[in-house]
Amino acid sequence: MNIREVKIIEVAPRDGFQIIEKFIETEKKLKIIDMLINSGIQKMQVTSFVNPKAVPQMKDAREVVKKSIEKHPDFEWTALVPNYKGAELAIESGIKELSYVISASEAHNMENVRRTVEESFKELKRIREDFKSTKIKLDIATTFGCPFEGDIDINKAIKMIHTGLDMEIDEIFLADTIGVANPKQIKEVIRAVKKEFEEIDFGLHLHDTEGMGLANVYAASQLGINKFESAAGGLGGCPFAPGAAGNVATEDLVNMFNKMGVETNISLAKLLETTDYIKENVKSNLSGHLSNVKRKV
Ligand code: COA
Ligand code: ZN
Repeated sequence: MNIREVKIIEVAPRDGFQIIEKFIETEKKLKIIDMLINSGIQKMQVTSFVNPKAVPQMKDAREVVKKSIEKHPDFEWTALVPNYKGAELAIESGIKELSYVISASEAHNMENVRRTVEESFKELKRIREDFKSTKIKLDIATTFGCPFEGDIDINKAIKMIHTGLDMEIDEIFLADTIGVANPKQIKEVIRAVKKEFEEIDFGLHLHDTEGMGLANVYAASQLGINKFESAAGGLGGCPFAPGAAGNVATEDLVNMFNKMGVETNISLAKLLETTDYIKENVKSNLSGHLSNVKRKV
C-alpha cells in the first residue's frame, strides 16, 4: 500500500526540549515554534504539563501554550500530560487535545510517571469523564522495547489499546521511546495491531537511537501508516529512560517523503532555517542528517 500524503506532528518543543539541561528562554521557544509553523508544520506537541521538579525545562508550560495560542489561535496544538493535574492545567491554558502517556512496561511507567499502568488508566478514565470535549490521544510508551524490562510482548499494547478504546480515547500512538525498534519488528507490530483493530488509524512516535528511525518510518508507511511524530534536528529523548536518544528528525522525514513523492505540506528550506536557529540557540550538535549537510537541498 503506497501512501500519498503524510501527517507529521512536530514534537521538538516537548520531547526535544525536555532533555536540554539549560533552561531555554521562553521567547526562544516561542520563536522556534513560530518558525516551525512557518515551515508548514500543521500540528505540534508544544510542551508538557508535568511536575517542574521532574522536568524543570517545562516549567513555563502555561506561558508557552497561552502565547502560542494567542499568536496562532487556529493551529492544532497538543500537550503531553502524565496525570489528572496535568490535564487540568493544559485545558485551563487552552489546550484542546491531550497526549496522555502510559508505558507498556510497568517498570518504565513507574519510573516515568510514578504510577502502575492500572493507576495511570484509572486517572485517564477520570480525565475522559470530566473533560468530554477534549480530544485525548493515548501514547503507549516503550511498545517496542524497554530500558528496564527489555523486549515487550505486543499483547500488552493490544490490551492497552482495548482499554483505551473502551473508555472512548480518540487516538492511539505507539511509541518507540528508546529507539530500539527495527523495520521487521515495526511491520510485525503494525500487522498484529491492525489485525486486532481494523478500523484504527494509529500513528507512530519513533526515536533514532540505533540509526533505524527512517527505515522504521518507511517500513510503517508501506503498511499504510501515515501519521508520525518527529522532532526538528533530531532533538529528543526521555529523561526517565536511560539510553534514549533523539527522535527521528522532522527534516529527514520531509526529505525522504519529498523524494518518494509523498506529500508532507512542509517546506524543507524553511525547516532547515529552523534547525540552523536551533543549532545556534539550543543545541549545537544536532543528530539529524540533513541539518548537518552543507549543501542542503
Ligand atoms: N504538572 C505540574 N505539577 C504537577 C503535576 C503536573 N502534571 N503533577 C503533579 N504536580 C506537582 C504537585 O502539585 C506537587 O507539587 P508540590 O510539591 O508543590 O506540592 C508535586 O508535583 C508532586 O505531586 P505528586 O502528585 O506527588 O506527583 P509525583 O511526585 O508522584 O510525580 C508526576 C508524578 C507524573 C507528576 C511526575 O512523575 C512527572 O511529572 N513526570 C513527568 C514525566 C515526563 O515528563 N516524562 C517524559 C515524557 S514521556
Ligand atoms: Zn519520545
